[in-house]
Amino acid sequence: MKFFIDTANLDQIKEAYDLGILDGVTTNPSLMAKEGITGKQNILDHYVNICNIAGTGDVSAEVISTDFEGIIREGHVLAELHKNIVVKVPMIKSGVKAIKYFSEHGIRTNCTLIFSPGQALLAAKAGASYISPFIGRLDDIHLDGIALIEQIVKIFNNYDFRTEILAASIRNPLHIVKCAEAGADVVTCPLPSILGLLNHPLTDAGLAQFLADHKKANG
Ligand code: G3P
Repeated sequence: MKFFIDTANLDQIKEAYDLGILDGVTTNPSLMAKEGITGKQNILDHYVNICNIAGTGDVSAEVISTDFEGIIREGHVLAELHKNIVVKVPMIKSGVKAIKYFSEHGIRTNCTLIFSPGQALLAAKAGASYISPFIGRLDDIHLDGIALIEQIVKIFNNYDFRTEILAASIRNPLHIVKCAEAGADVVTCPLPSILGLLNHPLTDAGLAQFLADHKKANG
């Protein structure tokens, strides 16, 4: 399973890469705004900065347009920024049409805002490189986000779709483990959820004991 980080914060992206386990980055307009990145050129420059940190990793950059022509225009600009840019397109009618267009023109896409198996199927059929089911936002309204991942995994396996399932809206380390159990290809997570996987009280207690015993024996 691939690990992506879901942020536009350069320090957090660097920290996750330093850990040696990161495979890519996803962003969205809310995450860019949170970092105070505004204005067309600043936004494009920021994507390039992220790509430079991400090395060979994919970086999802989202379009703002919702009409077909606008999505195509924006997608071309984003894709030309860097070879690792994946154009993030919303799950709407013009978005599906644009994903088909991009797949025929060698531009990779991430279909975002997926909340049902039918939406995932449509995006895969159109040729999306990734689809992003939002786990946490389903859980927020007492629907089962992980069950959605399981359904999509089953459907994609039935037909050998090459589209990768990128589990998004991850809120905690347990989501990551559950997505791995369900067979998601990728999880995109905030840094605290990734770092949360490190923690276990028995690890802390065991290490403290080892170090204390060593000190006792060696002075
Ligand atoms: O990037 C899309 C997704 O990961 C958003 O997560 O926490 O805003 O639902 P969240």
